[in-house]
Amino acid sequence: MIDLQIADKVHDEARQGEAVLLELPKKPDARKLYIESYGCAMNFADSEIVASILSDTGFDTTDDYHQADVIFINTCSIRENAETRVRNRLSQFSAVKRKNPKLIVGVLGCMAERLKSKFLEEERLVDVVVGPDAYRDLPNLIEQVETGQKAVNVLLSRDETYADISPVRLNSNGITAFISITRGCNNMCSFCVVPFTRGRERSRSAHSIVAEAAQLFNEGYREVTLLGQNVDSYLWKSEDESEQVNFARLLEQTAQINPLLRVRFSTSHPKDITDEVLHTIAKYNNICNYIHLPVQSGNSRILELMNRTYTREWYINRIEAIRKIIPGCAISTDIIAGFCTETEEDHQDTLSIMDYVEYDFAYNFTYSERPGTLAARKLTDDIPEEVKKRRLAEILAKQQAHSLTKLQTWVGKTINVLIEGTSKKSDKDLRGRGDSGAMVVFPANGNIKPGDYVNVLIEKCTSATLLGKLVL
Ligand code: 5AD
Ligand code: SF4
Repeated sequence: MIDLQIADKVHDEARQGEAVLLELPKKPDARKLYIESYGCAMNFADSEIVASILSDTGFDTTDDYHQADVIFINTCSIRENAETRVRNRLSQFSAVKRKNPKLIVGVLGCMAERLKSKFLEEERLVDVVVGPDAYRDLPNLIEQVETGQKAVNVLLSRDETYADISPVRLNSNGITAFISITRGCNNMCSFCVVPFTRGRERSRSAHSIVAEAAQLFNEGYREVTLLGQNVDSYLWKSEDESEQVNFARLLEQTAQINPLLRVRFSTSHPKDITDEVLHTIAKYNNICNYIHLPVQSGNSRILELMNRTYTREWYINRIEAIRKIIPGCAISTDIIAGFCTETEEDHQDTLSIMDYVEYDFAYNFTYSERPGTLAARKLTDDIPEEVKKRRLAEILAKQQAHSLTKLQTWVGKTINVLIEGTSKKSDKDLRGRGDSGAMVVFPANGNIKPGDYVNVLIEKCTSATLLGKLVL
């Protein structure tokens, strides 16, 4: 799924599900939309599409939900705690609705798709329930609610990619942006609810992706992250099938827009990542040497139960290919602790594959059974919660040590950094990233600004940040 040390956005917002307000340029007398997003980077990108659709029907955004005519919450179902957070947030909105009965409250995204009209019964304050493929219908659904009815559209589509909609870049640093390249997922990982909530995989037209990236570059953006649940299965064909673009070719076309445009991508799938993709990354300096390659478990029996369709040996072979073709490439992963039937020996296999790869970064979770998934139907969630938590703690401790070792290898070296803004701690310092995704902080100098590339000599590091000085 979505990923990595790519960008703060992904670390802070997508993975940890922090809500971020999206704000549109103001129009006088416009109705006000308040929208909050949870979950993966794809959800944040989708909220920008929703904002664009509603902007066309006369909505501005507000950062104060007390002022809103419409409150939307773009939801995530990936783990039970993601859904709990949304329900808690909805109960906060119910107080506002009591004071302002005309307020429209809508639930968008994966929870909407999973629970459908049941949501209306469970959460009485909700007026609109809209799945990820039905956002074009939002203006109609809002009209329907204004006539006093509840409104639901959770139809999934085989071809909706919102390719023609120009996302409104909101809450943006003006330097880095996400671009969706596929929607949905055709894999059936047994733990995962995404194929049910986001439907079949479809690839967006390569022309529209490259045009969006080129437009972003012309507006001053310097980094795009191509997003999909499994970017390696991207395959777009023109209608007469005379033109076919796979992921390697799409990466190349995006990299060719301008050498000053950095290209990132997420998420790669171990079963699908090809040597062609690796050679393309190696060929272009502006495609970042960074791959998010979720392993989930280091044990082949568990991988089979997870229906990941690769073994430990296959995964290791892909890591070796990355190291051979892109020496020094940063690698991150996702790991699930305590999947059904996982023994202590299986867990040790996960720890040992971590030692083998030495990931730069990892997103680690305890297994959370999701209704309707293959695992929920066929397997027993038999690992006690405290065992899951202890295994997760062991994974986290190991990763912390590896992340620090990785960062320390940069000390004494010079990194080419794309400046994203001022440091969160001091406006006398700037921050940006090297192409491995590591965050770099260094003292500002009057002549440089966000969007510039500079060389920074790394002098020391904290557990998550490299600190250095400009090399002029
Ligand atoms: N329980 C725990 N983690 C999960 N993930 C997906 N589904 C579940 C689940 N049911 C994790 C996987 C995936 C990441 C986005 O979330 O590691 O790669
Ligand atoms: Fe990712 Fe597998 Fe879920 Fe698809 S089914 S989104 S590949 S974890």
